[in-house]
Amino acid sequence: MPESLTESFPPAFLWGAATSAYQIEGAVREDGRTPSIWDTFSHTPGRTAGGDTGDIAVDHYHRYRDDVALMADLGLNAYRFSVSWSRVQPTGRGPAVQVGLDFYRRLVDELLAKGIQPALTLYHWDLPQELEDAGGWPERDTAFRFAEYARIVGEALGDRVDLWTTLNEPWCSAFLGYGSGVHAPGRTDPAAALRAAHHLNLAHGLGATALRSVLPARGRVAVSLNSSVVRPLSQGPADLAAARTIDDLANGVFHGPILHGAYPETLLAATASVTDWSYVLDGDLATARQPLDALGLNYYTPALVSAASGTADGPRADGHGGGDHSPWPGAEGVAFHQTPGERTEMGWTIDPEGLYELIMRYSAEAPGLPLYVTENGAAYDDKPDPDGAVHDPERIAYLHGHLSAVRRAIADGARVRGYYLWSLMDNFEWAYGYGKRFGAVYVDYTTLTRTPKSSAHWYAEAARTGTLPR
Ligand code: NOJ
Repeated sequence: MPESLTESFPPAFLWGAATSAYQIEGAVREDGRTPSIWDTFSHTPGRTAGGDTGDIAVDHYHRYRDDVALMADLGLNAYRFSVSWSRVQPTGRGPAVQVGLDFYRRLVDELLAKGIQPALTLYHWDLPQELEDAGGWPERDTAFRFAEYARIVGEALGDRVDLWTTLNEPWCSAFLGYGSGVHAPGRTDPAAALRAAHHLNLAHGLGATALRSVLPARGRVAVSLNSSVVRPLSQGPADLAAARTIDDLANGVFHGPILHGAYPETLLAATASVTDWSYVLDGDLATARQPLDALGLNYYTPALVSAASGTADGPRADGHGGGDHSPWPGAEGVAFHQTPGERTEMGWTIDPEGLYELIMRYSAEAPGLPLYVTENGAAYDDKPDPDGAVHDPERIAYLHGHLSAVRRAIADGARVRGYYLWSLMDNFEWAYGYGKRFGAVYVDYTTLTRTPKSSAHWYAEAARTGTLPR
């Protein structure tokens, strides 16, 4: 077969970019929006680098038309964004706010007019603060509140959005939000983190059911998980057991209920000293396991683990800063190591093979289910040249490597239907604030001017030709 053919992507492949509401919108006090846990957290001294907040972010709320025009210029045919819960249902209860929903209606109409397929995420970490005050994700009722919110958004936008994801990376919501506390709401209680994980699974199931009841038949329901590639440091039994524990806590805790209707027995055993799981009520696991139309995988870097021996030299591979508290309940006997190889500005090792492994794993674990890479990308310390151009050859190399892995997985039979680069543009990188730039488009935080980096042009060429430019 000529090389050009082996390098091509399927004609219907989606070349997308992704963002999330709190990271880009700003306008946090406009049109009836109430604070979310990320407003509270980012305004709490010491929680984010430099005290950065999403108050203005990149002002997408006011500049969405220009941002969509930019996507169209770059030839993207897909865009993944999230809805701010407290913009459309302030305080997380009660009636919908039409002006909030109108923003997303206008955004979607703009996308559709330019031939860009929207993919809507309902929850990308910004829980209305009032729901946190009522107990947050460790509290069962939050899952039911989420289902109500899912119905509201489904009813409002189901006529124009076909691809829906309930939750984005629930691992981060549960284990960074309630375990290590490096994310909002900043609690450090391992038992609460596991309760949160269960109620997020329940929320996914209830939310998917609510969506099904209001979406037209063409509506597709998915979830985006930060499924991890966990590698043991050696093939010795202790290191293999350590890898099993982290695989359960990173993957099994969500994939188990959502794909298979059960928590792994090994997870229940490993966490028995932390929680008794008595909040898993009859029927919950069947609820969590809803038929899915697609599975979203977010991938950045693999984890390398061993049995704890005091020689660990790596970060905890939680991907979002250390903190003094572990995000891994019940995993005291595990050490994390730095995986070998070049790293991005986040300190994350560049390992495209991990993405290939992940895709092949979930192709086997969820046979027939279409997969989307709903996030993948890299932070670099990008700076404009004196003439204003921004060159980011490292990001091009990163994207080339990872898209090649996707293409190889497709050639090996995986049903990967699309790829969403994280991120369309530089934005608020959570606890790291604006210091880490993931965008294909550079944002000048003083003027808020957008400048496509060389990687954006490279990606545009890939989208246009369906092959990877060299
Ligand atoms: C995953 C999250 O979904 C996204 O919000 C974040 O910015 C990226 N990872 C990079 O850390």
